[in-house]
Amino acid sequence: MTDGFEEAWSLAEPVKGWMTRDQGLALWNAACRLDKGDLIVEIGSHQGRSTIVLASAARTVGARVVAVDPFVDGRLFGGSPTRQRFEANLRKAGVEDVVELVAEYSTKLRPRWDRPIQLLYIDGKHDYWTYTDDLRWSANLDDGREILVHDCFSSIGVTLGTIAKVLFGRRYTYLDRATSLARFRLAPPSAKDRLRVVAQLPWFARNVGIKILLRLRLSPVAKAFGHDSPYDPY
Ligand SMILES: C[S@@+](CC[C@H](N)C(=O)[O-])C[C@H]1O[C@@H](n2cnc3c(N)ncnc32)[C@H](O)[C@@H]1O
Repeated sequence: MTDGFEEAWSLAEPVKGWMTRDQGLALWNAACRLDKGDLIVEIGSHQGRSTIVLASAARTVGARVVAVDPFVDGRLFGGSPTRQRFEANLRKAGVEDVVELVAEYSTKLRPRWDRPIQLLYIDGKHDYWTYTDDLRWSANLDDGREILVHDCFSSIGVTLGTIAKVLFGRRYTYLDRATSLARFRLAPPSAKDRLRVVAQLPWFARNVGIKILLRLRLSPVAKAFGHDSPYDPY
């Protein structure tokens, strides 16, 4: 199943973004489990780093990707120049024919979305309200399908949403994670599945601690906790 991943990663890696190789592989594998004609929805595409991996895998199985991103303004995400980079990066990677861009807020698009989806990837706005709304896109997925979530157990908003909707909810089963990229299945969780969510919380506490240390400019202390980067853990 990893055949072709290296090539996809070589196309995605030069694109600026927040997805590691292991996370790219998790996306690749999930997309490769799809069938011809299936649809992936990606919420939060930025410059296309994850879109390129999803689209490369989608092409191998005959699936397609809908990329949802309003290209929000600001220092972090860059506004409309980011959209131009996204489009140029997809063209350069040769995957633009597999991807449909909807430049819209996921929360505005969701109520009028009516197409079935076979894989959902959530990496948009990370506050509790937007993330839990993004989980509601799963109404378009059949039972048993996968939902992947970036910054799970590293962002406070996403983790609180996961505690509310996955740990205490009845719709989503936590499967595993590649650092902060968690994989859920649309299926009622058992008590054991819920305990596996609880088992991630010490790692979440560690990530919050690292973020505080970085804000206090104590990166040498963060390094002692295994975080050797100026960026927040993801
Ligand atoms: C962390 S970045 C995505 C990174 C991307 N997945 C990658 O691998 O490089 C978050 C993106 O979410 C977008 N965003 C913010 N609010 C959003 C929303 N409500 N719906 C969809 N995208 C949103 C931002 O414009 C930004 O491009």
